[in-house]
Amino acid sequence: MRVRSPEFDFTDVSPRWGANLEAVHLVNAQGIIPAYIEPFLIKVMRRAAEELDPLVDAELLRDIDLFNRQEGQHYRLHRAFNAMIRDGGYPDMTDYEAVFERDYEHFLRTRSLRWLLAYCEGFETIGSTGAELWVDGLMEAELGAAPSPAVELWKWHLAEEYEHRTVVNRVYHRLYGRPRLFAWLYRARGIVTASRHLNRRTSPLRRYLLDTDRRTMTDEQRRQSQEREAATARRLGAANLRRLARAFSPFYDPATTPPPAGQQATLARYPAAAGRPTNT
Ligand SMILES: [Fe+2]
Ligand SMILES: [Fe+2]
Repeated sequence: MRVRSPEFDFTDVSPRWGANLEAVHLVNAQGIIPAYIEPFLIKVMRRAAEELDPLVDAELLRDIDLFNRQEGQHYRLHRAFNAMIRDGGYPDMTDYEAVFERDYEHFLRTRSLRWLLAYCEGFETIGSTGAELWVDGLMEAELGAAPSPAVELWKWHLAEEYEHRTVVNRVYHRLYGRPRLFAWLYRARGIVTASRHLNRRTSPLRRYLLDTDRRTMTDEQRRQSQEREAATARRLGAANLRRLARAFSPFYDPATTPPPAGQQATLARYPAAAGRPTNT
């Protein structure tokens, strides 16, 4: 695990960066997730770190530090990606972002550390089990996207999500791993809670993005767009669910999740940031 600081220039990227507009707006809407969840993850992990023992948990604390630095890079670049979408003809996106951001402030104020960690672990599970969809090119094919900084951003991000997939899981089990039956059920609930919440906040944004574009479509184009939207959601929903299903097992351990085929080649494109610690 290491910290990388790539730069992606979105100046020449259009908000409609792939031929399958419906898939593109699905991903564009999902782009608000890292921008707000990842600063929240960092805060939760800092809170958890205070509960750990500096000596006994030294290795885990070091991993938390690397994890936080990786997430810091992710949300910085996703905010630039989101600005490209927003400024490219979708100004009301800020309203959806504001609601989402407030959710995390609310969670941090009102939820227990156990709840927060289970939610974060749910998100990390969704990201790392779905990493191969991006890293191995299935998403690119679905999007009909040519190589671009937008594709690179998501590939790099998801490859790192796979890379740091064990950190929140280990913190959760270190602090709340007993009794084991309860820890499993509570973790599984975290996946459902996170996935429902993210869906509830990104679906209306996806609708807004699509509706904006559909205003200039003919009736026939609109009908075709609606058909593509449904087919895309079905295909990607099934692909994600198939990969996520194993995480509901009581024996799930992210350490044993197989890597995307292109994991190493993807990360090799981005050297470690100078002067940053690594643990590989
Ligand atoms: Fe991330
Ligand atoms: Fe992550």
